[in-house]
Amino acid sequence: MEKQELLYEGKAKKVFTTEDPDLLIVDYKDDATAFNGEKKGTIVGKGVVNNRMSNYMFKMLEEKGVPTHYVQELSDRETVVKKVEIVPLEVIIRNVAAGSFSKRLGIEEGFELLEPTFEFSYKDDDLGDPLINEYFAYAIGISNRKEVEQIKEYAFKVNEALIEEFKKIGIKLVDFKIEFGRYKDEVILADEISPDTCRLWDLETNQKLDKDRFRRDLGDVEEAYEEVYRRLGL
Ligand code: C5P
Repeated sequence: MEKQELLYEGKAKKVFTTEDPDLLIVDYKDDATAFNGEKKGTIVGKGVVNNRMSNYMFKMLEEKGVPTHYVQELSDRETVVKKVEIVPLEVIIRNVAAGSFSKRLGIEEGFELLEPTFEFSYKDDDLGDPLINEYFAYAIGISNRKEVEQIKEYAFKVNEALIEEFKKIGIKLVDFKIEFGRYKDEVILADEISPDTCRLWDLETNQKLDKDRFRRDLGDVEEAYEEVYRRLGL
């Protein structure tokens, strides 16, 4: 399978068409952005970590009954995926208070939530991905009840599976963002699962092993990505 035309270039990935109209090739970059593109930088090696880690997690999730867009890893940075129509909803699940949740609710980062939370943001860069709920999604016509129910079921399943997977390598899954896509009358997990999209804290020391090191200028950014990669045995 070979890259044809550049279909789309996002903040962290390039997407190419292929000879098969149902398949695309994703090429993960080292570019990093935060705060809706206001902060820009490079995290050397990030593309490799995010590509290989996402593929590892997608394969694991498929085995647990969550369909994903993953098809085949081509190289360290390139993967063949199913061509989906992205549902314009960012799905965020939290197990521990942090980030915008802590800020909005005045709850200290690190507070272990009594149960996981589920939230939707409307995926729109110009609006800064505003927080919405499912009724907003129905009202503005971006999803429907059947799709939202399916997304919720898969998202909580992803949370359970990821918590378990990270626990094995001494990491606490604080929160994460996932995206879904429509593919042949089905909704499947798309985008990526990586230190860019998850908050990952060392179980013993609470050391941050994710993109917050870049967002908050904590230093050792590359080392954090490499550490997660190493612990996963990739
Ligand atoms: O910033 P906030 O606390 O809402 O982020 C929750 C989780 O979602 C974090 O793991 C963050 O990395 C992820 N996220 C993301 N892309 C966004 C917003 C949040 O991957 N656009």
